Amino acid sequence: MTLVSDVSPDKHVVVDPVLTMRGINKGFGAVQALTDIDLDIYPGEVVALVGDNGAGKSTLVKILAGVHPPDSGTVTFNDKKVSIPSPAASRELGIATVFQDLALCDNLDVVSNLFLGREIGAFSLDEVEMESRSWELLRQLSAKIPSVRIAVASLSGGQRQTVAIARSLIGEPTVVILDEPTAALGVAQTAEVLNLIERLRERGLGVLLISHNLADVQAVADRCVVLRLGRNNGVFRVAEVSYEEIIAAITGATDNVVTRRAAATSANNEETSK
Ligand SMILES: Nc1ncnc2c1ncn2[C@@H]1O[C@H](COP(=O)(O)OP(=O)(O)OP(=O)(O)O)[C@@H](O)[C@H]1O
Ligand SMILES: [Mg+2]
Repeated sequence: MTLVSDVSPDKHVVVDPVLTMRGINKGFGAVQALTDIDLDIYPGEVVALVGDNGAGKSTLVKILAGVHPPDSGTVTFNDKKVSIPSPAASRELGIATVFQDLALCDNLDVVSNLFLGREIGAFSLDEVEMESRSWELLRQLSAKIPSVRIAVASLSGGQRQTVAIARSLIGEPTVVILDEPTAALGVAQTAEVLNLIERLRERGLGVLLISHNLADVQAVADRCVVLRLGRNNGVFRVAEVSYEEIIAAITGATDNVVTRRAAATSANNEETSK
């Protein structure tokens, strides 16, 4: 197994990580959700965070989003040690988190959702400015939204995800965290969201992508960080790792149904090639 811990992707060698976690611990009563977790996110990089149910992914995200304080450990952002006591503090640092439930207002249109809580215009809303900024943002993301004046309720799942991600960019973050952005989406919509993630990387943002879908991870991530039972269980460069190796790190076993099937297939291939 090729474990690449503490190794940055080659193209990032001269760049410092934008965000670093070291020795993070977090318990809930008797449950130790995270033990001694390390994580680096570089600018212009998509890091996938994977692991089985209960591995600690959401807890780690919530620490960065200012929902839970860690019990111990350090978070460094742009070379400064930081504490993130609240969601507002997380946003002010430049961390945008898109939670799985998206938290959009279904009855409001796309523009209102994008600028909710950050409306432009001192005494009356500058709708024209907000509308043109909305189109500009969606254009930069190559987003396929038919109109910015329709209620979010009438958009598809992929379009809603797009609006939620676009909204996170209004505050000009440097790190974007996406919790299972494709979980509820079909094939075409998933492809759209993966394209969008590539746009975020092109903009130089660091992206933390939580996903159960290893096909998505292999399609879009540069590195893959595996959590197992609340501990780091491997960091891989996605280009250099097989599906089976990631599964083995997630389950903690080299013998599982996926690796057995891969072994059987390669044995069969050898038989037929004889
Ligand atoms: N608020 C909480 N109170 C008590 N225990 C919690 C709390 N949040 C998480 N846990 C526990 O911490 C552990 C890690 O949970 P977490 O939600 O971070 O896992 P996850 O990797 O996100 O899993 P999933 O893939 O199912 O979303 C679990 O054992 C969970 O029960
Ligand atoms: Mg979770």
